[in-house]
Amino acid sequence: MSDELLAAHAAYEAGQFDQAATLYKKLQDRPWNQTALTDLATMALHGKSYKDALDLAAQCVSKQAGKPELAHLHGLCLLQAGLVEDARAALERAVSLAPEDNRIANTYGHALLAAGQTEYAAQHFYRSAQANAGTPDYWQDLAHALGALPVEVIRDRYAQALIDCLNITKIKPKNAAIQARKLIKPFLTELHQHLINGEFQSLQDWLLAKRASKNYQVFVALIENVRCTDAFLENALTELRAMLLNEWVTASKSAPIAIVTALATQCFLTDYAFTAPQVELEQINGLRSLLRNAIDNQASVNSNAIALYATYHPLHTLQGVVEVTPQHDDSAEVSRWGNFIVMHVSEPLTEYGLRGDIPSLTQIENETSRAVQQQYEESPYPRWTGVNWGGGKLPIGFRQSTPSPKNVSGENGRHRILIAGCGTGQQAAVYSLAQPQASITAFDLSRRSLAYGERKKREFGLQNVTFHHGDILRLPETNLVFDEIACAGVLHHLKTPRDGLSALKKVYSGKGEFNLQVYTESGRQAVVAGIALRDEHGYKATAGSMREFRKRVYGLSDSHPAKGLLRFADFFSLFECRDLVFNVQEHRYTLITLSHLLNACGFVFSGLKISTATLATFRRLHPNPAAVRDPARWQALEDSNPSIFGSMYNVMARLAS
Ligand SMILES: C[S@@+](CC[C@H](N)C(=O)[O-])C[C@H]1O[C@@H](n2cnc3c(N)ncnc32)[C@H](O)[C@@H]1O
Repeated sequence: MSDELLAAHAAYEAGQFDQAATLYKKLQDRPWNQTALTDLATMALHGKSYKDALDLAAQCVSKQAGKPELAHLHGLCLLQAGLVEDARAALERAVSLAPEDNRIANTYGHALLAAGQTEYAAQHFYRSAQANAGTPDYWQDLAHALGALPVEVIRDRYAQALIDCLNITKIKPKNAAIQARKLIKPFLTELHQHLINGEFQSLQDWLLAKRASKNYQVFVALIENVRCTDAFLENALTELRAMLLNEWVTASKSAPIAIVTALATQCFLTDYAFTAPQVELEQINGLRSLLRNAIDNQASVNSNAIALYATYHPLHTLQGVVEVTPQHDDSAEVSRWGNFIVMHVSEPLTEYGLRGDIPSLTQIENETSRAVQQQYEESPYPRWTGVNWGGGKLPIGFRQSTPSPKNVSGENGRHRILIAGCGTGQQAAVYSLAQPQASITAFDLSRRSLAYGERKKREFGLQNVTFHHGDILRLPETNLVFDEIACAGVLHHLKTPRDGLSALKKVYSGKGEFNLQVYTESGRQAVVAGIALRDEHGYKATAGSMREFRKRVYGLSDSHPAKGLLRFADFFSLFECRDLVFNVQEHRYTLITLSHLLNACGFVFSGLKISTATLATFRRLHPNPAAVRDPARWQALEDSNPSIFGSMYNVMARLAS
């Protein structure tokens, strides 16, 4: 290769696509070699210039038809250009050239999915996921594809794939979880029937009889990994918990440990939201005394008793519990015990230890900030496990294409991102995975939330995130500057959001995105009704009072406006329910009032981050590309469809010129 070509390729490899494009352009009149062609095709693909990308990729393939990576690139270009049938054919060829290449199999899966061959797509996704068991992306794609299959097909042929997906803790198996909930309905109905009619002698017998069935296993995987967000499941789990405790206390019968530990984990994930009548509370108090006694006397304790206790109370609060020797009834399932103890005891204690290590950037003196701080120290938000790895959106071979364009707007080539009010760090993790070369500062009032984020950062092996403690209002005192800022679900908790936004403006360079998420007025009407109900009956932000509040909401007639709270996933866990209905402070916006707030702080509304379907609806009404920057038009769309943006606007803004 000539020196010029080498320089252009080096810029491409470094992710400096603008520079690479300029250098390649200068060489336009010389014949491009294969490297140049693939570089240019990939860059065109990233830049969404699909026609150019396709021309270049077609040239590559015509020169070297037998190379699988070129057939793959061609297929990718066809797929991204929307030429689904051609893409499917090109990728089928790529797979035949390299049957063992999992990235190609994954892209082929995406083409099959786009062509409506969902089951065949799931097969390819499952195969490549199994071959890359430790790579969450592959599982995320499988979870997405499973979501599109008829539930009967899953029951007959993909139940194991579903279980495997649910057990991958680093992903968000949203679609897979929806399928799992459908699949286990008959199992739960049968369980309920058994609890009422009792054709088996005991719940223990019934569960043992069901243990080999796929529905049982899907049930265990679901409740062990995914927070329940529906009333039917919560009801069934509350009933199951009561029965398990009762059988243990009154008849010393222990259910399979997998069920009890999974249920305990579900209770941990929902922050012990389920209610219990007095008789159950007395039984659990009795169990606590028994455990306390055994721990104090260094006696061994039945593992079921420990797990049962953990279905009602956080296990790490039972001091000394890890020092006891658990006695397992069922040696086949002992392997679960280690993971169970890590989640219920070690991780909360690790977080406790990390709280003091998070460096402070500012003092917290503002009265509202202090009250909000206390809220999130007691109830960090959210308790998350995995993140969405872009499942279903882009093939892995494209998402992870190396190199990818680098954002180098910051000083010394480092793009500086602020996650303002990062909570427990989920958004910081998403940013870190998407932009591993950036430097990310995750900032919050709540040390407990930050410690959760720090623990997850270590679990995910994120290198470029640092967690800092402090108040957004005082960020300008730090003299830090950021090229990109994301602030989700935070400003509406400030007494004067304008002060918070002005503070963010002072630390913003304006070189990258400014993304704000705040409560909508129209999408939170059920919450407004819930707040009124809360105040009418004097419910407080304590665990007991919030459980009673939830019970009252369940008992409302369907026409009561607060019954709509059941449509919010946050309703189903106490930490999240507190954030939903028991905020110290909340403001809600329309797009017009939000746009005024932005203008008052020197920003301009520049669009909404929304689903492609909503964007398409908007574009049909307003074909002019500039219309997306007009909040009044978006407002008109919301006025005609009040739930279109949900309970939170996801807004892009830029500095006013
Ligand atoms: C609802 S949580 C959102 C967390 C995260 N952004 C997310 O979307 O998952 C709100 C967070 O904002 C933080 N917060 C509220 N006011 C703040 C302030 N003045 N300075 C820093 N953080 C603040 C709270 O401590 C809390 O963790």
